[in-house]
This record gives sequence, structure tokens and C-alpha cells, in this order.
Amino acid sequence: MNSDIPSLDLDLLPRHIAIIMDGNGRWAKKRSLNRIRGHREGAESVRDIVRACREIGIAVLTLYAFSSENWQRPQKEISALMSLLKEFLRSELAEMMENNIRLNAIGQIEKFPNDVLEVLQEVMDMTRKNHGMILNLALSYGGRDEIVAATQKIAAEIQAGRLQPEEITKEVFSNYLYTKGMPEPDLLIRTSGEMRLSNFLLWQIAYTEIFVTSTLWPEFRRGELIQILHDYQKRERRFGMTGEQIKKASPRQ
Ligand code: FPP
Repeated sequence: MNSDIPSLDLDLLPRHIAIIMDGNGRWAKKRSLNRIRGHREGAESVRDIVRACREIGIAVLTLYAFSSENWQRPQKEISALMSLLKEFLRSELAEMMENNIRLNAIGQIEKFPNDVLEVLQEVMDMTRKNHGMILNLALSYGGRDEIVAATQKIAAEIQAGRLQPEEITKEVFSNYLYTKGMPEPDLLIRTSGEMRLSNFLLWQIAYTEIFVTSTLWPEFRRGELIQILHDYQKRERRFGMTGEQIKKASPRQ
């Protein structure tokens, strides 16, 4: 185990961390490199952060790798991102198996080209039984699309007589989302300083603690993640209650 982990309170770890990985383009621009080099270096941060989260004992890590809006980028950049994703999946499979990580995709993956889908499906199948950590890659993901799709599925269930409108609760609704069965994110990190949610996990982040760092994604590595976790452990999560109520319910905080 790395020596930075014991400094964390293992009873107060987030179960689910979600990350908006932003700033690859700016990282490249600062170095007069093309944007694709930025994404390539960003993939190195992905490797480092996945490894760190697994070692720390995070149950679910969700990474915003490609949004539904990213299809509007230049074709050359889209193709490079697809190749990078394929390369990443192929190169990380062995480590995912070794470290007991299950790969899962959230989003409209059917929009991806067949060659990418095949590798993605293969890695998801191979890692299906792993239970050490879930690595969720948000691919062609949009929060509003996810909510609309859930609503359509619920409407179809009602039409078929399998569900009554009054049976729709928040919990039932959650079961129609891509993140069904997973804990909601406790911590959302966004790199590169932008104060936006960019259509990410809109339903799931209702009570999530948000951290925005000015660090560009390709420079975001384990050390900063640990720092953020220290900050997270100092925050008081109130879920709409008063500070006093929270202290009574869990005296450790
Ligand atoms: C945002 O940077 C990043 C993306 C749109 C893609 C994220 C992709 C990676 C981190 C690399 C590959 C991913 C995996 C899972 C292997 P940006 O291009 O919007 O940066 P900018 O805002 O500075 O232009």
C-alpha cells in the first residue's frame, strides 16, 4: 500500500467518486502541442487515478470520458479519442483483471463505431465478475438524455400494466438510470477550473460534494486526489439537515 493512504480516515471515504476530466486541450495548447497530445496525456492521468482509487478502496469511480455533446468536435479529434479509448481498454484489461476491477459503460454506447464497441463489450464481459471496484466510463453520456430514457422506460412499463404511476418513487426512478444499484456519488471533482456541471449525472449528484481544481486533467494525479480526499473528510455533509442533527446522528463528524 502507498504511504499516503494511511493518512486518510478509512471510515470516511467516499464510496463513489465522479470526475469531469477537463483541460486536455488547454494543457496541449500551453505546450504548443496539438489537442490530441493533450488527450493522450489525459489517458495517463486516467491510469494513475484508476490505480489510486482502487488502492484507496473506492467502490465506484465514474469518469466523464465522452459527452453526448462531444460528437460535435472535429472528426479528427473524435477519431483520435476513439483510438485512444480502444488502446486504453486493450492495455488496461490485464491490470483490471489483476486488481479485480469491473468495467462498466454508461451512456448511449450504441452510437460508438463497431470496432470500439467490440473492444468495450469484450472488456465489460471479461471483467463482469470482478468486485473490487466499478470503473464507470461515461461514453456518449448526457444527464438529460439519461433522465428522458428512464422516463420512457417507466412510461412503457406503465403502458404494459407492469407499474402503476403512484408506484414511481425516487428509488424506483433511480432503478431506470444507468447507475442502477450503485451508490450516488459522494464526491464530484472537476479539473481545469470551470464551474459547470456540463450535463453530468444530473439526477445522481443531488447531495454530492463538489470540488473544482484549476489543475488541467493531464496534470491531475494521485497526490492531488489524496489532498482532495483530505478536504472532503473535513466537510460536514448535511443532506438538508442542521449541523446539530448531523452530529447527533453520527458523532464522528
Ligand atoms: C476534456 O478536455 C476531455 C475530454 C473531452 C475527453 C476526455 C478524454 C480523456 C481524458 C482521454 C482518454 C480517456 C480514456 C478513458 C482513455 P477538453 O478537450 O475539453 O479540454 P479543453 O477544455 O482544455 O479544450
